[in-house]
Amino acid sequence: MTLERWTAVDRYVSDLLLPSDPALQAALDASAAAGLPAIQVSPPQGKLLFLIAQVQKARTILEIGTLGGYSTIWLARGLAPDGRLITLEIDPRHAAIAQANLARAGLSDVVDVRVGPARDTLRQLAQDGNEPFDLVFIDADKPGYPEYLTLVLRLVRRGSLIVADNVVRDGAVADASSTDPNVQGVRRFNAMLAAEPRVSATVLQTVGSKGYDGFAVALVTADP
Ligand code: SAH
Ligand code: DHB
Ligand code: MG
Repeated sequence: MTLERWTAVDRYVSDLLLPSDPALQAALDASAAAGLPAIQVSPPQGKLLFLIAQVQKARTILEIGTLGGYSTIWLARGLAPDGRLITLEIDPRHAAIAQANLARAGLSDVVDVRVGPARDTLRQLAQDGNEPFDLVFIDADKPGYPEYLTLVLRLVRRGSLIVADNVVRDGAVADASSTDPNVQGVRRFNAMLAAEPRVSATVLQTVGSKGYDGFAVALVTADP
């Protein structure tokens, strides 16, 4: 089985279940034109994030890693009425592209793009002491995942859902001897999920147009 075949199936699924969407397509086009890396979630994965937000009846969503705002648009569209999304991005160029993409999607008033290192913004959010987030999507630098989980656990409640992208890394995650800092980051993250009594988690392997990777899904089962 090859990337070509996985991509063909992603296209089949998209043609079948994801009607053409001018705002999402414009976001992809503008991101590519600006030279952003094409590492956003795939369209079927984006739809999954949208559905998860709806199942969760999310009124507050936190995203770590905005890029051009492609996953942000999917998540924000899944918000309950009057819901809000905060997305964290270290690169001001990425944030500017995302702002424009979100504006085209009519989501500027719903989404707050916070520019800076996620660890700093997460600490600030904890100090601000606002209402907990119903859904968190972690998708920034992989070595940062363990720290993001620690900080995110201060920002959620029992019943919140934490989803993290790229936790399988072509299967490298099962290699305990890997020295790749990305692999080490997601391995520590997964180990923290396993050891954390306040969450119940699983990891789902995925294939598709982005290759072989996976999502972690963790339900917060106790008030942190
Ligand atoms: N969620 C996006 C893809 C995010 S790619 C989507 O699916 O559409 C990862 C992003 O995380 C990049 O834009 C990168 O600049 C950002 N990032 C990397 N390190 C970061 C950090 N320390 N804090 C915040 N954002 C970071
Ligand atoms: C890559 C993919 C991602 O989804 C991401 O968040 C970061 C990097 C990659 O394929 O390199
Ligand atoms: Mg990712």
